[in-house]
Amino acid sequence: MDALEIPTLETERLRLRSFRKSDIEDYAALNADPEVVRYLSGSEPWDRGRSWRHMAFLMGHWQLGGTGMWAVEHRETGTFIGAVGFAAPEGWPGFELAWTLARRWWGYGYATEGARKALAYAFNALEKERVISLIHPENRPSIRVAERIGETLAGRINHLGREMLCYGLDREIYLTEVAPVGGLNSGRRMSEIAIPRRVR
Ligand SMILES: CC(C)(COP(=O)(O)OP(=O)(O)OC[C@H]1O[C@@H](n2cnc3c(N)ncnc32)[C@H](O)[C@@H]1OP(=O)(O)O)[C@@H](O)C(=O)NCCC(=O)NCCS
Repeated sequence: MDALEIPTLETERLRLRSFRKSDIEDYAALNADPEVVRYLSGSEPWDRGRSWRHMAFLMGHWQLGGTGMWAVEHRETGTFIGAVGFAAPEGWPGFELAWTLARRWWGYGYATEGARKALAYAFNALEKERVISLIHPENRPSIRVAERIGETLAGRINHLGREMLCYGLDREIYLTEVAPVGGLNSGRRMSEIAIPRRVR
């Protein structure tokens, strides 16, 4: 299979780029923080091996599914601050947009900024009909991110053995209400972004 060239997206303060081998230190540190993994599957801090395997999963997801999670970099300093992007392995309840930041980067609006860009990419470049986010009912900061980008609560589902809130947004509502053409959040200014292509 030819390798997929993973697109890079930029926002005012962030760069969303492909994960690379050298991210392992930062990614392992992020997942070793009990506060970061509190509402994630298992709720226990990850050891370095698990983070490495998960990075391999994230890279493989792009190759098999054509989309996936980006590593998020602070543009000004080039520092790795977390991950934002898509999860939709086979059997997943929908096309999920997810976000995770290292704790020292919470509270600055970076998750919302990155998620907003990824959402625009999902609807405008990938032309998805619906994007969802699965969130632990007690994960208030994550619920706030979902609401800020325009997602609304669609219901509760049992996901991997846990009850999760299912937030979501339809393309139609996104294009007419959340980011109408010419509006402040217009997601249609994505002409510079090509969908991923296969490279040899
Ligand atoms: C979920 C998570 C990414 C949210 O991080 P966050 O920093 O709260 O979210 P944002 O980056 O959007 O920042 C919003 C906060 O920054 C503040 N902020 C500061 N400057 C801002 C700006 N320029 N723009 C927007 N918000 C800004 C907001 O007031 C808000 O704080 P508040 O919630 O206390 O009011 C973070 O808690 C996390 O990584 N958790 C662990 C992993 C996880 O649970 N992921 C979700 C799985 S479903």
